[in-house]
Amino acid sequence: MAPEAAAIPLLTPYKMGNFILSHRVVLAPLTRQRSYNNVPQPHAILYYSQRTSKGGLLIAEATGVSDTAQGYPQTPGIWTKEQVDAWKPIVDAVHAKGGIFFCQIWHVGRVSNSGYQPNGQAPISCTDKGLAPVIRANGVDVAQFTPPRRLRTDEIPQVVNDFRVAARNAIEAGFDGVEIHGAHGYLLDQFMKDQVNDRTDEYGGSLVNRCRFPLEVVKAVSDEIGPERVGIRLSPFANYCESGDSNPEELGLYMANALNKYGILYCHMVEPRMKTVGERVESPHSLVPMRKAFNGTFMVAGGYDRKEGNNAVVENRADLVAYGRWFLANPDLPKRFELHAPLNNYNRETFYVSDPVVGYTDYPFLDGSF
Ligand SMILES: Cc1cc2nc3c(=O)[nH]c(=O)nc-3n(C[C@H](O)[C@H](O)[C@H](O)COP(=O)(O)O)c2cc1C
Repeated sequence: MAPEAAAIPLLTPYKMGNFILSHRVVLAPLTRQRSYNNVPQPHAILYYSQRTSKGGLLIAEATGVSDTAQGYPQTPGIWTKEQVDAWKPIVDAVHAKGGIFFCQIWHVGRVSNSGYQPNGQAPISCTDKGLAPVIRANGVDVAQFTPPRRLRTDEIPQVVNDFRVAARNAIEAGFDGVEIHGAHGYLLDQFMKDQVNDRTDEYGGSLVNRCRFPLEVVKAVSDEIGPERVGIRLSPFANYCESGDSNPEELGLYMANALNKYGILYCHMVEPRMKTVGERVESPHSLVPMRKAFNGTFMVAGGYDRKEGNNAVVENRADLVAYGRWFLANPDLPKRFELHAPLNNYNRETFYVSDPVVGYTDYPFLDGSF
């Protein structure tokens, strides 16, 4: 049998707009907290290039759009020239190996505290409702949140503009496009979800109003860099950071349809079964209605292994499958899927440590090299 005929569904080529992907195994956006002072570091060159394959799509970790966007230690930004310049060699390294690289642009909104904010001010959100403290991913530290300040209606265009400028900066840094982070309880999701959004202006109340700000961001970013370079990540079913919705199907479907108007490249949705970022539960819900509604490339993520990824492609539930933890621990994940080789296990304890090597670039390739 010819090798092409033998290729598993995940390793078949796919044309995503103007990008010719050689396979469908995508690096999911993964915060690694190794960008000291919010500046991407040289060690990210090795990390991302290890995970690059020719014609493979990578999505960079969540990257702040402004000085109010941060809520975690050592996460990268893309609002200063220093940050843009620091991304360049990282992007170049991915391109040198034939990868396609999108930057996930991010604002945490209320998932922050005054220690991360300019002049110690309160974080911004759609609401002034605060978050209860939570145990950090290391199981020891407790994250404390400062009650947010509700954005005034007339301040919203400035935040939309921050996303626009960040997208332009990402292109300036050499990225092939951006993924707008509209998932996981961060700023855009805070506006969309009725459990959080308690506004009474045109950005709150009805579903149309709650989706207005995220869609203004989509429009501004698309106008700036072209819709053919724009993706968005959504998690309508998730309730991370106290960000749930009473009718997630309706929300997901409304967004999928509304996005068609802007003709953006892809919609990336997190599976309903992902109860928290790292915990999978059974769910009766499905992303299939949104997949059917959205006209562009549809990407799924959350709890996928090789078999389920293949099934999703074969059953036409997705064009692309993003892998988080398995790709974090297996720099050559597409190759391992091709060979049906065993996978390195991931170590949660080093997901977010600031070490430039440990838990970052020291997961071996199949042949034992790095
Ligand atoms: C260490 C870690 C960091 C993450 N950082 C981000 C992030 O920056 N942006 C994002 O949208 N999701 C983030 N996620 C969620 C992943 O992209 C992915 O959706 C999740 O891990 C579920 O997929 P998986 O089962 O393949 O790991 C993160 C997950 C992990 C484990």
